Amino acid sequence: MKQVSASIISNSEVMPGVYLIWLESPQVASEAKPGQFVMVRCGEGSEHLLRRPFSIHRLDNNKLALLFTVVGKGTHWLAQCRAGNNMDLLGPLGNGYSIQPDWHNLLFLAGGIGIAPLCFLAEKALNQGCSVRLLLGASTATQLYPRHLLPAEAELIITTEDGTAGREGLITDFLPDFVGWADQIFACGPTLMYHTMAAQSQQLLKVKSVQISLEVRMGCGLGVCYGCTVKTKNGLKQVCKDGPIFDLDDFTGEELAYNY
Ligand SMILES: Cc1cc2nc3c(=O)[nH]c(=O)nc-3n(C[C@H](O)[C@H](O)[C@H](O)COP(=O)(O)OP(=O)(O)OC[C@H]3O[C@@H](n4cnc5c(N)ncnc54)[C@H](O)[C@@H]3O)c2cc1C
Ligand code: FES
Repeated sequence: MKQVSASIISNSEVMPGVYLIWLESPQVASEAKPGQFVMVRCGEGSEHLLRRPFSIHRLDNNKLALLFTVVGKGTHWLAQCRAGNNMDLLGPLGNGYSIQPDWHNLLFLAGGIGIAPLCFLAEKALNQGCSVRLLLGASTATQLYPRHLLPAEAELIITTEDGTAGREGLITDFLPDFVGWADQIFACGPTLMYHTMAAQSQQLLKVKSVQISLEVRMGCGLGVCYGCTVKTKNGLKQVCKDGPIFDLDDFTGEELAYNY
């Protein structure tokens, strides 16, 4: 883990309110694993002293990309950053997803901005010769991650809640159709999606491993403040250090709320 100053190569709005930012950072790029995140200082001077966590979205040699939705002050500031500006990063942090060497059929569930860590993982899995099916869900067609930015070799199944593209419904509605095929499942999305998946556990029994990425508010990202502590079936865990990737089997959905 390193604190680095990364140079911004580009920053563009790829869907309404969602930005893709490419950064040059050989230090972070050389160590990053899919599912890990960076803490970004979102502001200058004394404003926004706390960093914000973002998943590593993709890698390309010395470059890494972040994909973020504008939800508050920090991400609004990030959206205004321009090519040539520098960004203060801490990372890579966290544990990352793990692909079992002998398991070939990998099913990905991306709910909304949950596609952020899964693109990097899909690229790695495809490079290793795995077969990847991606269930990509959004509330409506305009909120779908652009197809041309996804790895071309991944088989894509689109769902929207309002039926404006692909199958109508939540991605978890269609999960049972694919579990028979999958050796491993990797998911990233809202907590509600994990609750639904946990309730589907009887159907998921055939899958050898289901890994999810937890998103909670973080203070330090370094295991110091305990602000990211969640209850798991194996006791209290810090999402920044023990996660953000957990087995679905350990998920309880309980976090010890803390505001920054
Ligand atoms: C490990 C990890 C990886 C993440 N990866 C991504 C990513 O790749 N792309 C992305 O867009 N976001 C990601 N997030 C969420 C992102 O960190 C928050 O959206 C960001 O911190 C908001 O900062 P802000 O200053 O703009 O919003 P704030 O002003 O702090 O908050 C604005 C609103 O967003 C809510 N919010 C803020 N942070 C979180 C959070 N962590 N979880 C849920 N709600 C939150 C607040 O409750 C509030 O309603 C990730 C979070 C974690 C923990
Ligand atoms: S965010 Fe501080 S301990 Fe995890």
